[in-house]
Amino acid sequence: MPVVYVEQIGEWEGKEVTLRGWVYNRRSSGKLQFLLLRDGTGVIQCVAFKGNFPAEEFALLDGLGQESSLEVQGTVRRDSRSPGGFEVDIARFRVFQAAENYPITPKEHGTAFLMENRHLWLRSARQHAILKIRHEVIRACRDYFDDRGFTLVDTPIFTPNACEGTTTLFETRYFDQTAYLSQSGQLYNEATAAAFGKVYCFGPTFRAEKSKTRRHLMEFWMVEPEVAFATLEETMELAEGLICFILERVLTRRRAQLDVLERDIGALERIVPPFPRISYDEAVKLLQASGSAIEWGGDFGGGDETMLSERYDAPVMVHRYPGAVKAFYMQPDPERAEVALCVDMLAPEGYGEIIGGGARIHDSDLLLERLAEHGLPPEPFGWYLDLRKYGSVPHAGFGMGIERVVAWICRLTHLRETIAFPRTLYRIYP
Ligand code: 4AD
Ligand code: MG
Repeated sequence: MPVVYVEQIGEWEGKEVTLRGWVYNRRSSGKLQFLLLRDGTGVIQCVAFKGNFPAEEFALLDGLGQESSLEVQGTVRRDSRSPGGFEVDIARFRVFQAAENYPITPKEHGTAFLMENRHLWLRSARQHAILKIRHEVIRACRDYFDDRGFTLVDTPIFTPNACEGTTTLFETRYFDQTAYLSQSGQLYNEATAAAFGKVYCFGPTFRAEKSKTRRHLMEFWMVEPEVAFATLEETMELAEGLICFILERVLTRRRAQLDVLERDIGALERIVPPFPRISYDEAVKLLQASGSAIEWGGDFGGGDETMLSERYDAPVMVHRYPGAVKAFYMQPDPERAEVALCVDMLAPEGYGEIIGGGARIHDSDLLLERLAEHGLPPEPFGWYLDLRKYGSVPHAGFGMGIERVVAWICRLTHLRETIAFPRTLYRIYP
């Protein structure tokens, strides 16, 4: 008998099949048992008639707790009253394990409780929908770059140096040396871009973010393209294209999951290129006019980002921040040395920064100067400085945080639900 998944059940109408999964819910009405079986691809109602089973077997079914695991065999019937349009008449079943007192019940639970039970919470419909969308976003990122001639080159997680400032470094032992967990693959991308032209890396990144916010995780996934000879403008186009590609994919392939989340689909459908592009200078004026205390030269706070990103229907690209608030590697604007050729993309509906990037310094002396200004020792950057000695070219790229994008697309209030096992300030369990 074929073993099938719930998502393919429509292909098996009138046939006998085997399904395997977990009890999502169950109710009985005397002679009948209605069992909602969940198998990871969907949920289907399975029905058992008392008359078809020996008494003790029917009683076993009747006693099965939520999340018990079992295999059922039976005939697939079309039934318009059933949740997925089909039902299975159970002829036989086999219990793998009878679960009791599953802690997550249909009643409301607090976040702390759910996080403590994250390993089980993942089975719930909302969490399932979010992680299916996350997978679609990741797949779209890969396809976008793969289809455009980029080479995926993985970058290391153990690193000898900082990329995004020394305050958020996770330090670890590397035998008798000190190493840091990677904050970004960018510096290595710059090396591989000189070897392959267009590259991207996609991996976990780590930041010891000591403040508790809904926008920060200690461990998050970033996709980072880097392109030799690219300008800031080209980088903005690449970023805009990526976001449009991701949205298109999720809207066509993950509509059912967006519906589970009750996402306002129109807000995502309305997003079309070109996205607004504004300079940091203009952004500061807009913020001041809206009552922000920001002064030219300061970095945006979370509130400022929210305010800016609520102004537009589409993501907004803010470019040319003061170099002083950005990382050491940012290329200064040749027309105005105090601003950097960089861009942050802020997602709409108040979500704030989802992408950060720009052009990199390609002059060796300037880079040395900047390292010193940032208090970074030049020795661990020897290889990085080499890139400025052997065929240095202007180049640019960006990093997009997967969790930030998923939170926005799913319209979640906190990043912790966008990844299976979030690493947050006070929690490393489960
Ligand atoms: O703006 P960031 O710090 O840029 C970089 O790391 C560059 N080196 C990337 C590059 O140019 N290749 O981080 C990039 C993105 C942010 O826009 C945000 O989406 C995400 O990474 N991000 C975080 N996501 C979750 N938790 C955190 N603590 C994050 N920090 C950054
Ligand atoms: Mg940033």
